Amino acid sequence: MRTPVIAGNWKMNKGPAEAAELINELKPLVKEAKATVVVCVPAIDIPAAKKALKGSKIKLGAQNVHFKESGAFTGELSASMLKEAGVEYVIIGHSERRQYFAETDETVNLRVKAAVAGGLIPIICVGEKKEQREAGYTDALVAYQTLIALTGLTEDEIKKVIIAYEPVWAIGTGLTATDEQANETIGVIREAIRAKYGKRVSDRVRIQYGGSMNPKNVKGLMAQPQIDGGLIGGASLKAEDFAKVVHFE
Ligand code: 13P
Repeated sequence: MRTPVIAGNWKMNKGPAEAAELINELKPLVKEAKATVVVCVPAIDIPAAKKALKGSKIKLGAQNVHFKESGAFTGELSASMLKEAGVEYVIIGHSERRQYFAETDETVNLRVKAAVAGGLIPIICVGEKKEQREAGYTDALVAYQTLIALTGLTEDEIKKVIIAYEPVWAIGTGLTATDEQANETIGVIREAIRAKYGKRVSDRVRIQYGGSMNPKNVKGLMAQPQIDGGLIGGASLKAEDFAKVVHFE
């Protein structure tokens, strides 16, 4: 019922020329994809990526958006700027932004609201650190992060957002949540949405897994009923690997 969505998060990798190169390699490999395919490129790459994506179904994403429309916010980009440049999706609240750039649940919520108001689809990242999992806080934490991020959106808006469950201990470490762990925690996120907004909303929201998803583990993860796709870091930087993930091979 939910169309899977596989998004690459390139993080701070590749300049405009390399971005175009990777997209050109990727295009023929994912032409037949059943999933929605998104590449979230560094902001400087957006024009080159947009050009390279012409004639392809691959969607263009950014990695952050500011919550104000314009003004004295050095270094930031607004939703309308991204939209004008051809961006359709935007990652918000990635754990690296929370960890290194002092993003909080509240600023994540502001950014989500700005993205939605500006016609972008947010990919909202939530997830626990290792010590939080060990202390047994995972479920409460991801439910809280999710509900705060969605505050102020209408039910119709919530149906369109994408949540990415990314356990922080699995990001870039080669460690992956087991299929069951990922399925269970994503189930907790969906249940939190159901409890507040009802089943018609929670059944529609696409929830991805992220954290060392790669061609080797994607099949098992995608076979889980709660998992609607992936947010892929390292494995999105090679066209062949990313294409395998896109096809869940
Ligand atoms: P890796 O796939 O490199 O672990 O990164 C996951 C991630 O942070 C995607 O946003």
